[in-house]
Amino acid sequence: MVAIITGGSRGIGLGITETLLQNGFNIIVASRNKSEKIEELIQSYPDKIDFIAADISKSEDIETLTAFTEKKYGKIDLLVNNAGVAPKIRKDILEITPDDFDFVADINLKGTFFVTQKLVPLMIKNEHSRIVNISSMSAYTASVNRGEYCISKAGISMITKLFASRLAEYGVSVIEIRPGIIETDMTAKVKEKYDRLISEGITPIKRMGQPEDIAKCVLSVANGNFDFCTGTVIDCDGGFSVRRL
Ligand SMILES: NC(=O)c1ccc[n+]([C@@H]2O[C@H](COP(=O)([O-])OP(=O)(O)OC[C@H]3O[C@@H](n4cnc5c(N)ncnc54)[C@H](OP(=O)(O)O)[C@@H]3O)[C@@H](O)[C@H]2O)c1
Repeated sequence: MVAIITGGSRGIGLGITETLLQNGFNIIVASRNKSEKIEELIQSYPDKIDFIAADISKSEDIETLTAFTEKKYGKIDLLVNNAGVAPKIRKDILEITPDDFDFVADINLKGTFFVTQKLVPLMIKNEHSRIVNISSMSAYTASVNRGEYCISKAGISMITKLFASRLAEYGVSVIEIRPGIIETDMTAKVKEKYDRLISEGITPIKRMGQPEDIAKCVLSVANGNFDFCTGTVIDCDGGFSVRRL
């Protein structure tokens, strides 16, 4: 089984990379930089993992990723659209500039869309392939100090529905995972705030999520446990999405 994991070099993506490797998948990780951890995994699993330096907001890099995968494997069983960025600086929606907006939207939204579009021909060669989109609880939760991020994640929810509708006839299912507050580089700067909110009860399960929590959901999809589901959302968020009174 061949899996591509965008942003598989750090954080949630790295957790997914490690879990799928341990479960026998051949992995292609695509991100801008090769992390030390990826170097180590390449040493440990030389025949099972490749790293492609690719910025998903650049169409030439998506071409490189597609060409490499086609040449090496000729197909993909699983695409995990995980690469994403937070705003460089959190700003109020009344202050953000078009450049701030483009930085996040070009990677999270446009990048995810075109990676998927370009890899479709390698997915429809199989009887059954799967796409997992990592969106966020921000897909439906308004944070006015990072609106461009929320918009990008809400857009990924529509990408999920669009490709689920378009690709079902080819046996490709599309699942969206919405992580809650997960302990990674992305949340490091605001960890104190999140620790406080969690201790005050913002989530029924009182801990930050870990990359492995998301990786376990991805593995379950990858193993075919959700094959009669498409366009489906999995909230992996410690219960954040539950309305409570
Ligand atoms: N942490 C959370 O609480 C949380 C919650 C909800 C959703 N999410 C989502 O989960 C995903 C992973 O987040 P994370 O917390 O693991 O973040 P992270 O620790 O910052 O890791 C982000 C990953 O994406 C890669 N990446 C960033 N921009 C890229 C680009 N232009 N092209 C290719 N790869 C790129 C990074 O590698 P390079 O920098 O080397 O490119 C890195 O591997 C993101 O989509 C994020 O929005 C996270």
